[in-house]
Amino acid sequence: MKILAIESSCDETAAAIVEKKSDAEMATVLAEQTLTSIALHQQTKGIIPELAAREQLKGILPVLQAVQSQIEPQNNSLASLLHQIDCLAVSTGPGLIGSLLVGVETARTLSWLGNNPIIPVNHVAAHPYAHFIASSAHKTPPQFPLLSWTISGGHTELSIFFSHQQQRLLGNTVDDAVGECLDKCARVIGGEYPGGPYIQQMAEQWQPATKMTLPSLPRPMLTSDNFKVSFSGLKTAFARAYNQLHTNQLLPAEQIPHYLAWELLHAISDVLIKKTELALKKYPDTKSICVSGGVAANTFLKQQFFLHFPQVDIFFPTIAWSTDNAAMIGAYASFHLDEQRDWQEIHAFC
Ligand code: KG4
Ligand code: ZN
Repeated sequence: MKILAIESSCDETAAAIVEKKSDAEMATVLAEQTLTSIALHQQTKGIIPELAAREQLKGILPVLQAVQSQIEPQNNSLASLLHQIDCLAVSTGPGLIGSLLVGVETARTLSWLGNNPIIPVNHVAAHPYAHFIASSAHKTPPQFPLLSWTISGGHTELSIFFSHQQQRLLGNTVDDAVGECLDKCARVIGGEYPGGPYIQQMAEQWQPATKMTLPSLPRPMLTSDNFKVSFSGLKTAFARAYNQLHTNQLLPAEQIPHYLAWELLHAISDVLIKKTELALKKYPDTKSICVSGGVAANTFLKQQFFLHFPQVDIFFPTIAWSTDNAAMIGAYASFHLDEQRDWQEIHAFC
């Protein structure tokens, strides 16, 4: 089964050709191409949806051409691409509606043209499928039951998967997503978009040798006996601490962003680890923990999960499959082939 997958929900434009043999436990990526409009959003210090959608329009046909030429270097015809695949998959939401429409309308057109069915894919549900793609890092897939954190710019949620078909959402954020919190905090200390990599870089340069007691950030909902999380208050506390540290001069001004970035990552990590511990108590048979979404690219968070949960297999994707990509869309589709639809039934939602 060869699937042509398309992702265009936000600021990445991506296509991939994903294959799965009927009895295989993992999908294989035969070709993939991702374009990002991050450089444009850095100039405006955040995403302007209208601009992101225009970039999707510019990128969508080139990424399709790129995957075709990866599998057939001598032939970049669309007819040949459509002839080789059995099915399409497209991210239908959630996301920015202008961006989503570009991918969805492209998939509908290709489906009509090549007479291939489409599998509509929920972008958030697809992120964990980065762990079901064969790669040099992971030759075997996660085992069920597995706990799955999807932590991205738009979503933060914890689910338990008993199988590919049986999953239960345990909890999600009641306000901001972790990535959103990182992006906003980075802006407070002068960082550019996206904030996650900037916060990581600043935190790595903090040397916690100082003996003085510095203001700590809150760990929201740390002790609540459920799986809800909240990161909006943390963002506010971060801005307050930034001003306080400048006023009371506890630290040299140039050290303040490093300390706060370090403390922010500890606060986020403490909350995610605590909720994972709670989930492991509730589901002691858990065999794997999978962390996915753009924030899973964070090396500190990855270290903390490995440190705290030596008894289960921990999965973090490569950076390319943490942030938005089409391989995960194709991988999700390859495990949900019964969700094939006619192109007239496919619509974007946000
Ligand atoms: O999954 P993603 O690419 O897009 C959404 O579906 O939202 O996630 C983007 C988020 C941004 O908030 C970005 O700051 C964060 O992922 N991010 C990181 C890192 N790289 C990207 N957060 C922490 N550390 C990183 N290295
Ligand atoms: Zn995403």
